Amino acid sequence: MNAKIVLLPGDGIGPEVTAEAQRVLVAVAQKFGHEFAFESCPIGGNAIDDFGDPLPDATLKACQASDAVLLGAVGGPKWDDPNAKTRPEAGLLKIRKEMGLFANLRPVKAYDVLVDASPLKRNIVAGTDILFVRELTGGIYFGDSGLTKHDDGTETAFSTEVYSTHEIERVVRLAAEAAKGRSGHVTSVDKANVLEASRLWRRVAARVMKEEYPDLKYEVVLVDAMAMHLISKPTYYDVIVTNNIFGDILTDEGSMLPGSMGLLPSASIGSDGPGLYEPIHGSAPDIAGQGIANPLATILASAMMLRHSLKLEEEAAAIEAAVDQVLAAGLRTKDIADKGAEWLSTTAMGDEVLKALGS
Ligand code: IPM
Ligand code: MN
Repeated sequence: MNAKIVLLPGDGIGPEVTAEAQRVLVAVAQKFGHEFAFESCPIGGNAIDDFGDPLPDATLKACQASDAVLLGAVGGPKWDDPNAKTRPEAGLLKIRKEMGLFANLRPVKAYDVLVDASPLKRNIVAGTDILFVRELTGGIYFGDSGLTKHDDGTETAFSTEVYSTHEIERVVRLAAEAAKGRSGHVTSVDKANVLEASRLWRRVAARVMKEEYPDLKYEVVLVDAMAMHLISKPTYYDVIVTNNIFGDILTDEGSMLPGSMGLLPSASIGSDGPGLYEPIHGSAPDIAGQGIANPLATILASAMMLRHSLKLEEEAAAIEAAVDQVLAAGLRTKDIADKGAEWLSTTAMGDEVLKALGS
């Protein structure tokens, strides 16, 4: 097949890890007889520096005209000034909204060979396989907000959690569809004991599950309790669906289960059109430019891209198998290496994945 892939390397280690994922995609295209055309566009802090805009129009247009988008990471201390006119993160929120990417899929799978790198005990973590489905274009991230300055010099600020029926229905359906191909267990997370928006979420989710997915196991958990369960019994969960902000927080917590954020990919998808794929880790400015970042999360994100946007299941599985093989062989980047043990550079890890792919 022919596919147009936009690369958004971004800031910090973004360009380093995206480059490795691109090499893997090129190898997959060769091996399976596809034509992938790549176009690199600016986003984030470097785009603010060069264009005064974290998401230049040309970048958004290129993404919208593509088949899929692969993002590295955005942000860094250089652009962290709270008084700055714009921030790298604004580019990320805008691209999600403009591309209609209402669902963020964040699989958290514990690799058995890495379980001992987890801060939790092996008997708790081993076997963890959760798919988080985070609502991504609504809620408090996009609700009404404001700031009032008072005469006495103090200030008042507010941000609003807003959801409508349709926004809840579509993300719950997506989660339920994903659960069909897994263990068939959906858990919806909310704060319905306090928040009106969560009470609507709970009612709509329950209706969709009862009317459309009666065969799936469905449960509801309050977000504070979920924060606890996630580290006490992570293997109990299969698909967890929740709003934008709870999903943001719980997926960071969840990312610690397998030991390193350097392994976890994410997919942001809408009802149609191109999806956006990225590692869940950030731009890690402290290690940028040193060639020590772990490229595996971005490589695994490229596998999700092949699966979800390009419908190339066999190719996606080949990348995942190559990563499994590399990890099983004991090859590690610095973030997942045992203390004092040898580790590979970013590009050396990329080389190993290519070798495992047979390229
Ligand atoms: C994420 C990030 C973003 C978010 C930030 C960078 C805006 O934390 O993708 O989880 O909060 O959504
Ligand atoms: Mn986050």
